[in-house]
Amino acid sequence: MRRIFALLIACLMIFGLTACGGGNSTESVEDSAAEAPAESSSEEAAAEDTQNASDILVVYFSATGTTKGVAEKIASITGADIYEINAAQEYTSEDLDWNDSDSRTTHEQNDPSVRPEIGSDPVSLDGYSTVYIGFPIWWGEEPRIMDTFVESYNFDGITMIPFCTSSSSGIGMSGKNLESNAGSGNWLDGERFGGGVSEEELQTWIDGLQ
Ligand SMILES: Cc1cc2nc3c(=O)[nH]c(=O)nc-3n(C[C@H](O)[C@H](O)[C@H](O)COP(=O)(O)O)c2cc1C
Repeated sequence: MRRIFALLIACLMIFGLTACGGGNSTESVEDSAAEAPAESSSEEAAAEDTQNASDILVVYFSATGTTKGVAEKIASITGADIYEINAAQEYTSEDLDWNDSDSRTTHEQNDPSVRPEIGSDPVSLDGYSTVYIGFPIWWGEEPRIMDTFVESYNFDGITMIPFCTSSSSGIGMSGKNLESNAGSGNWLDGERFGGGVSEEELQTWIDGLQ
């Protein structure tokens, strides 16, 4: 009798284990399908954009990258947004040949009324209280495309800070030319930098502006 009872208990245990095993595997699939979806990454990006909004903008034109490098350092120091002025018709190395009296830049710089077309999308100045505006010196002055830019915007209520790069020439009348052609904005005296200017030198200049 005891042997029959033991056999019955053993059969019941085997049946129970088999049934439990099947149940468990189904449950685990259902569990993983029911996991909550990850939070939307585009919402996180939008929140970050709002936090990073700056009231300083660095605008620059750069034909061979020198002014671009200085502009990026200024933007990094000040936490500014950055906007590049591109020419609709890009400047080739032939265009930039100052030894050629017939090159595009020689013609443009010899005629103060020339206004090369801008190819970059327009920038909105809404919310900016300070604009650093950078360019290379061409024949002692601002490239004519800078005049195209300043004549296309209203800088009322904005502090305008010109800066330039060059081989050796100073900023000369470039800042004043831009101010006069813009006809709006509160223009500070500009500054010339070599391509190798350090962040420390730029920081000292920026601190002196306030
Ligand atoms: C057409 C042309 C004219 C230039 N004229 C002058 C000049 O009058 N004085 C000067 O010091 N450098 C002059 N440069 C040199 C540039 O100002 C200098 O290389 C500048 O840093 C270039 O900036 P970018 O690389 O942002 O275009 C001239 C360069 C070009 C292409």
